[in-house]
This record gives sequence, structure tokens and C-alpha cells, in this order.
Amino acid sequence: MAPDTRSAELNAVPPTVSMRFGIVTLFPQMFGAVSEYGVTGRAMRTGLIELHCWNPRDYSTDASRRVDDRPYGGGPGMVLQAPPLAEALRTARASLGGDAHSVALSPQGRCLSQRELIEIARTAKPLIMLCGRYEGIDERLLRDEVDEEWSLGDFVISGGELAAMVLIDAIARHVPGVLGDARSASEDSFASGLLDAPHYTRPEQYAGQGVPPVLISGNHQAVRRWRLKQALGRTWQRRPELLAGRTLDSEQSQLLAEYREELVAHSVAEHSTS
Ligand SMILES: C[S@@+](CC[C@H](N)C(=O)[O-])C[C@H]1O[C@@H](n2cnc3c(N)ncnc32)[C@H](O)[C@@H]1O
Repeated sequence: MAPDTRSAELNAVPPTVSMRFGIVTLFPQMFGAVSEYGVTGRAMRTGLIELHCWNPRDYSTDASRRVDDRPYGGGPGMVLQAPPLAEALRTARASLGGDAHSVALSPQGRCLSQRELIEIARTAKPLIMLCGRYEGIDERLLRDEVDEEWSLGDFVISGGELAAMVLIDAIARHVPGVLGDARSASEDSFASGLLDAPHYTRPEQYAGQGVPPVLISGNHQAVRRWRLKQALGRTWQRRPELLAGRTLDSEQSQLLAEYREELVAHSVAEHSTS
């Protein structure tokens, strides 16, 4: 029978809470996806991170708990009203502490880098995220009540909840103790400014392909060099802008040169057999 990891987690001595997230959302149930599953679910069950939701409907003065209205100037859709959102935000701030950083999720916000997410986890300041819906949020609320706006990227999704969950997960990975092995995060793409090296696991043969022999050589130094070479080569091929302005040390320069030579040799060999 599989061990009951959940009760083992719950029986463990609870660590001090390292990071507290507050969410202002019309759909608190959606956050079950991060509070019940995977890395974030375990971190919440063991008390390493906390997540609290405030629903603006609970702060609406309208008899039917309405929180949206038609846009001034006309046009499609509805806009989230400032008063219930402001009240929910103030309650969240009072609960999480005055030093909480408050952000609105918005496609017009700024995209965060891995480095910034690591810094957020390191400072462990409570983070309040406001999730928009419909056409968005009354501009006056954004101007007065949030510190900044954050985006997931240059595309539009239907609500801020998915964006908030992505950020909770990405930040939680850097809260000490959340990952079983802290090396996982430090070896991930972007941690050192490079993409991660490729990964392989059993079976050793799959679809007529083996695994790079160095990975089963048992030579740790050779494995380290191979991984660094792949990380440099992949970054150069897929995201060259990450290498621009970066000074490579002599080992890195040599490994990248080897990667490029091997690539040329490989494509010449492929060409001559085709
Ligand atoms: C349909 S969108 C509104 C988009 C808005 N009309 C605009 O074009 O800027 C509804 C909500 O989804 C969230 N959202 C949409 N795209 C997002 C993105 N790329 N990053 C973060 N949040 C986003 C925001 O909270 C937004 O208020």
C-alpha cells in the first residue's frame, strides 16, 4: 500500500509560516488547484505557506451582492466596481499586515523575471493579489489601492485567478523547505540565467534512441560539464538574448564552442547520409 504521505506531512512539526498570500477574487474555489495539489498543496498543508481569499461580493452594499456595472462611455462587457474591491483589499491588508505588497493582475502590467520571484520569496513580505474579471477593474481603484500591476505575458486570459495561481506556484518554489531538494530550483531554467539541460530517465532505450552515454558513465565531473554545455548550447540556440551582455568564463566559452562544433559536425553527418 502506498504510504499516507498526507498524514506524515500533517504529523510533522509545523514549520514557521514563511510566506503569506492574500487573494481578492470572485472565485475563491478556483484556488483549490494550488491549495490541494502538488508542491504548493504540500507547502500549505505543512504550514510553510498560507493562502487566504477575500471575495469582493462579501463587501458589496448591493442587495444582490453585485460588484460590477456597465462601462462609462459605453462598450461591451462589465467593469469591476471600486468600492467592494477597495473594502476587500483593505480587509486583506489589515489581516496580512501593513507591509503587505499589493498587486493587480493585468495584461497591462509588467512581467516578472525568475530573479524577481526569488527575491519576493526571499524577503517573504505578505503578497496580496487582486484578480480582475470581465473588462477589467475601475481605473481609480488601480491608481489608489495597489502598489503595481503584474502580467503573465502579452496575451489576455479571462480572469486574474489563473495568473495569481501561476505566481503563487512560481514564488513558493523558492520558499525554503517547499521543494524536497532545493537544488531543483537552483538548477531550473533561468536560475543561473541559462535554460536547463535536457533530462532523461528509464528506459535506457526508447523509440530506437538511447541516452547520452555520459549520463550513465558514473563520471560526475563529466556529467556536470555535459549539462553545462547543453544549458549553454540550448540557451544560445533557443534564447540567444539571455546570453547577450553576459560574460562567459573560460570553461563556459570553451563548452559553448564545443557545442557549436558538435552541432555543425552533426548536421554535416546528417546531410551526407541523406
Ligand atoms: C478579460 S481580462 C481584461 C482585459 C482588459 N480589457 C485589457 O485588455 O487590458 C480580465 C482580467 O483577467 C486578468 N488577466 C488577463 N490577462 C492577463 C495577463 N496576461 N496577466 C495577468 N492577468 C491577466 C486581469 O486580472 C484582467 O482584469
